Amino acid sequence: MEVAADRGASPLDRRDEGAMRDDREEKPVGILTDDMRRVVGEQKLGYVATVCPDGTPNLSPKGTVAVWDDDRLVFADIASPRTVANLRRNSAVEVNVVDPIARRGYRFKGTATVHDGGEIHDEVVVWYRRNGTASPIRAVVLIEVTRAQPLVSPAYDLGATEAEVRQRWERHYLGTLGWGRRGNCKTGTESAMDRQEGPMSEENVAAIRRLFEAVERRDLEGVLAAYAPDIVIREAETLPYGGTYRGLEGGERHAYSYEATWAPLQEPGARSLDAEVLDAGEHVVVLWRQRGQTPDGTRSLDLPAVSVYRMRDGRIVEARMFQQDTAAIAQFLADAGPPEATGEA
Ligand SMILES: Cc1cc2nc3c(=O)[nH]c(=O)nc-3n(C[C@H](O)[C@H](O)[C@H](O)COP(=O)(O)O)c2cc1C
Repeated sequence: MEVAADRGASPLDRRDEGAMRDDREEKPVGILTDDMRRVVGEQKLGYVATVCPDGTPNLSPKGTVAVWDDDRLVFADIASPRTVANLRRNSAVEVNVVDPIARRGYRFKGTATVHDGGEIHDEVVVWYRRNGTASPIRAVVLIEVTRAQPLVSPAYDLGATEAEVRQRWERHYLGTLGWGRRGNCKTGTESAMDRQEGPMSEENVAAIRRLFEAVERRDLEGVLAAYAPDIVIREAETLPYGGTYRGLEGGERHAYSYEATWAPLQEPGARSLDAEVLDAGEHVVVLWRQRGQTPDGTRSLDLPAVSVYRMRDGRIVEARMFQQDTAAIAQFLADAGPPEATGEA
């Protein structure tokens, strides 16, 4: 059965973002962008929604979803009786294709044509055979895409970069395959990392980002807001602000002591910590730089550091700072002269 595609708008009008025209050839480009082609081609799985006769939705996965041409998607009916019956009655269709690692994808709305014989059917079946689909194909469904929109996880709203999102979900899926579990975790025992996967660990990462931003702008309130009331902060004993600080009062002393040491040695524009925030479930690990420059500009310091934060309910309960070279820092501070004030642990 042939169902006419919605020709109400040209592909130019229908492309959701960034309609373009190839000026040299004077013809509109298709609705499916290169990135849409990439995501559909990589994922090889789309969720296809159709409308049942009683108006309720019908949703089912299709591993054969592919880009057919600039404006059309295709899938093979191997075992999809309801989807196909619905489309024969009502050609309205929506397909979601999402990269579960990057937590991004696309939603495609359109009108479908079911081909269970004829030239187009045969051409598409040959294409599937060439691409390795061995299952018997009852019909092929071509979807004229009338609207294509990006889908983006709210994880990105919290400021996560794509690299961070990928890292979290790669680990999650590797975990489901039995990879990447902690060495000391007994089989079948849920680790803290597993328990915190998802929204909670996103919240942890966002809290640590806010902490680093607060440190960079010397915002004491912002720093303290990241701390749980029973926080414990540990710095190398050999540093002027070294030792163990407990509770919010300790956190405040630590902040003042750190500030007193470094503020005279960091121009406001040179306070960047270059924080790289790594999600580790119950923990958040940050790779950052300890920088300083003597006021006369003759000596400078730029060393890597790592901080490990243990989180509870989105707040830090333990902060452990690891400097790569505390001796170099101590020497730099000695050369720079005494700080204005020091705190005590
Ligand atoms: C990962 C996955 C991929 C699938 N791919 C297809 C496919 O490409 N074509 C198909 O007809 N059925 C496919 N199926 C099977 C259908 O989704 C399944 O038979 C479903 O019940 C059909 O429901 P429907 O009749 O409402 O379409 C797939 C199932 C899964 C889990």
